[in-house]
Amino acid sequence: MANWAIPFILWLTSLSYLSTVHVMAHPWPVGRSTRFYDFKVQTTSISKLCNSKNIVTINGMFPGPVIYAQEDDRVIVKVTNETPYNATIHWHGVRQRLSCWFDGPSYITQCPIQAGQTFTYEFTLVQQKGTLLWHAHISWLRGTVYGAIVVYPKTGVPYPFQFPYEEHIIILGEYWLKDLLQLAQDVLASGGGPPPADAYTINGHPGPNYNCSTNDVYKIDVVPGKTYLLRIINAGLNMENFFTIANHKLTIVEADAEYMKPFTVDRLMLAPGQTINVLVTANQPIGKYSMAMGPYMSARNVPYQNISAIAYFQYVGAQPNSVSLAAQLPSFNDNLAVKTVMDGLRSLNPVNVPKEIDTNLFFTIGLNVQKCTAKNASQNCQGPNGGVFAASMNNVSFVRPNISLLQAYYEEINGHFTEDFPAVPLKLYDFVNGAPNNIPNDTQSMNGTKTKVLEYGSRVQLILQDTGTISTENHPIHLHGYSFYVIGYGSGNYNPQTAQLNLVDPPYMNTIGVPVGGWAAIRFLADNPGVWFMHCHLEIHLNWGLTMAFIVKNGVGEMETLPHPPADMPKC
Ligand code: C2O
Repeated sequence: MANWAIPFILWLTSLSYLSTVHVMAHPWPVGRSTRFYDFKVQTTSISKLCNSKNIVTINGMFPGPVIYAQEDDRVIVKVTNETPYNATIHWHGVRQRLSCWFDGPSYITQCPIQAGQTFTYEFTLVQQKGTLLWHAHISWLRGTVYGAIVVYPKTGVPYPFQFPYEEHIIILGEYWLKDLLQLAQDVLASGGGPPPADAYTINGHPGPNYNCSTNDVYKIDVVPGKTYLLRIINAGLNMENFFTIANHKLTIVEADAEYMKPFTVDRLMLAPGQTINVLVTANQPIGKYSMAMGPYMSARNVPYQNISAIAYFQYVGAQPNSVSLAAQLPSFNDNLAVKTVMDGLRSLNPVNVPKEIDTNLFFTIGLNVQKCTAKNASQNCQGPNGGVFAASMNNVSFVRPNISLLQAYYEEINGHFTEDFPAVPLKLYDFVNGAPNNIPNDTQSMNGTKTKVLEYGSRVQLILQDTGTISTENHPIHLHGYSFYVIGYGSGNYNPQTAQLNLVDPPYMNTIGVPVGGWAAIRFLADNPGVWFMHCHLEIHLNWGLTMAFIVKNGVGEMETLPHPPADMPKC
C-alpha cells in the first residue's frame, strides 16, 4: 500500500468509531485513539486450484481485513458469527494488558461465539508497535480466518530505519481443498497424522506452480531504486516455511513486533504465528522476480507439500508476460538456514531482561504415541505401531476443558483443571537421543488439564527442551499475554554449565521456534494477571496436547488486578 493511504485508513477507522456508542468497562488501560472494527464471521464461496468451495472468512475477505492502529491505541472489534460453526478470534502477540478476557483462545479465556451470537473484543496496544496477526482460535478455523495487525508508532515518532517508499503485507498460508473443520475432525478421529496442505499461499494466492493458478498470483509492483518494507506473517496451520526473493537481499528490522538490529539475509524461516519485517531495495536489473514460500520440515517421516507458492516482485518497466526469475529456497530440512536467521535476531536497543530468577521451569516438548483403546483400531489408531498420536509438555497431554479455564479460575468453579503442572519433567532421561521413550518402548503421555500458577511479579526462566520421542522437531512455542526474552538456544540437551546466555540484547518475542533436537531459554516478568495459554503453534500439535496454561495471580491494587469479565462474554 502506498504511504499516503496509511493516515487515511487510520482516520477512517477512528471515524467509524464515532458512530458507535461505547461505555468503557474499566478505567485503565485506555488508549489514545480508539479504532473500531466490525468483523462478520461468514461463509464465503471461493475458487482455487480448479475447485470451488465454501470457506469461513471475516467480511467475505481472504485473507481477512487488516487491523490498523497506532501504539497505545484502544482497539474494539465487534465479532458477529453468521456461520453455523463456533468461532473465536485471537489477537496474536497483543499482550492484553489487564484484558485476558479478550485474548480469544477457545475454552481457555472464553467460550466460543456460537452461531448468531456477538462478542466485542476490547484491548489496548500498550507499548506495542509493529506487525502482528489475528486468527481464529478454535479447531482448524484459523486455516482461513486470519489477517494482519499493523501498529504504527505514535504520531511524529519515526521508524528506527530508512523510511520505506511503500509498505506491503505478505501473509503466508496453507490451503486445503477439503472442508477444514471436517478434516480436523477426521484427522483427530484417525489417531494418525494430518495430510499436507493442498497448496501454500501468499496473501491467499498459490501462484503459477499450482494447477489453475497461473493468474492466481500476488504481485508487488516496484519502482527501481526504491526501498520497500515487507511485513511478513506466517498464518499457516501445520507447517513452518522458508521465504525468499530471487536476487534480492532481505534486511530484518523487526520480529514479532519488536525492533531488531538490522540484519541482512537471503532467506527467512517463519513458523506459524511469527512475523518479520524486512526492508528490500529494488536494486537489480529491471525484471520480474519470484517471491517464494516453501516447506521447512525438521521432523522425520512427515509428509509435506513440496510445491512452492510464488508471488511476483515486479519492476515497473518489466515485460508483464515474461517468466519470473526463479528464487532459490533452502532444502526442506536446512536447519542451518534457520539458525542463521535466529543468530541475527538481536533487540535494537539493550533490554531489561530479568537478571534474578524466582521461578525456574524446565518443560520438555514433543510428540507421543498413546495405546489404542478404540474398538475399531484400523479406523481410530492410525498412529505409529497401531497407536494414537499425542503431544505433550513435560509428558502431560493437555485436555481441553468444557468451560473456559479463565472463567473456572475467576469464579472458583471446581473440577475443570488442576494446578499441578510439573515445573520439571517427572522422568529424567536423555531427552534428545530418545531412550526410554523410543518406539517400541513406552511413549505414552499422561492426560490432564494442568496449569502452573505464578505469583504476580515472578521473574520466570523457562527452558524449552525438544525431545526425540517419535522424532525431534522444531516446535514454534507461543505464549499468550506476554512477550519473552529469548536469552539462549542450542542443540542437544540443555546444559546449564555450557549454555551461552545473552542478557544484553536478546530478541523480545511471542513465539520461539525451539531448535530441532535442541533447547531454548526464555525469561519473562509475570506481571499480567489472567490465564495464559502456551502452546506449539503447529495446529495439529496443539490439538494433540502440546500445550499448557499459566495462571498469573493478581497483584496489589487496580493496576495489578484482572477486571471483571464483560457482560457479553459467550456462554458454553
Ligand atoms: Cu496464534 Cu494460541 O495462538
